[in-house]
Amino acid sequence: MEFFIDTANIDEIRTAESWGIISGVTTNPSLVSREEDDFFELLKSIAGFVNGPVSAEVTSSATNEMIEEGKKLASLASNIVVKIPMTPEGTAAVRTLSQDGIPTNVTLVFSPQQALLAARAGASYVSPFVGRLDDIGEDGVGLVRDIAELFSVHDLDTKIIAASIRHPRHVFECALAGADIATVPFKVLRQCYSHPLTERGLESFMTDWNRYRKNHGG
Ligand code: E4P
Repeated sequence: MEFFIDTANIDEIRTAESWGIISGVTTNPSLVSREEDDFFELLKSIAGFVNGPVSAEVTSSATNEMIEEGKKLASLASNIVVKIPMTPEGTAAVRTLSQDGIPTNVTLVFSPQQALLAARAGASYVSPFVGRLDDIGEDGVGLVRDIAELFSVHDLDTKIIAASIRHPRHVFECALAGADIATVPFKVLRQCYSHPLTERGLESFMTDWNRYRKNHGG
């Protein structure tokens, strides 16, 4: 499973990139609304330094408008992926964009049948929302598992991006469930590094090393 970062914040993306673990970025209108920059400038800048796909979401709801918006977004950089909501109008836009060679990511997926529809329309990626399903007492990781099985049984090459990741446990559970990618907020990525025994172990190695150096005239 690969890691994408789920943010539109340039500092967060640059920091996570410097850790050597990020292979793409996802944004959505809510994440973009937290930033000051102009949407198109922000996307151009993110896509310019990220070595991998950058999902940018359309905000219209009619098929023709989504196609137009998608083409405009895709023209900003070759690594832009057009994010389209899971609606009938959305799958129609996905079909046209994919026929034009523009990669798409179908978002707001909450059931296996929605994922199948998106894949059949030609989506490059589907984004099941794990945390938001858990929030209503359903099984978000179970959804990822079902979609992975469905895509495997039917030999579909649409990639699964586990989205709406809330905590480190989601990360490894989605990996085990068969997600191709997890798009993870900065805070959760940072949490994934953390273990009290790693921190304590590092501290005691350094204490021992400094004592050794002192004793050996270092
Ligand atoms: C990413 O593609 C999604 O838009 C994002 O993960 C949603 O996360 P949220 O449920 O925390 O808003």
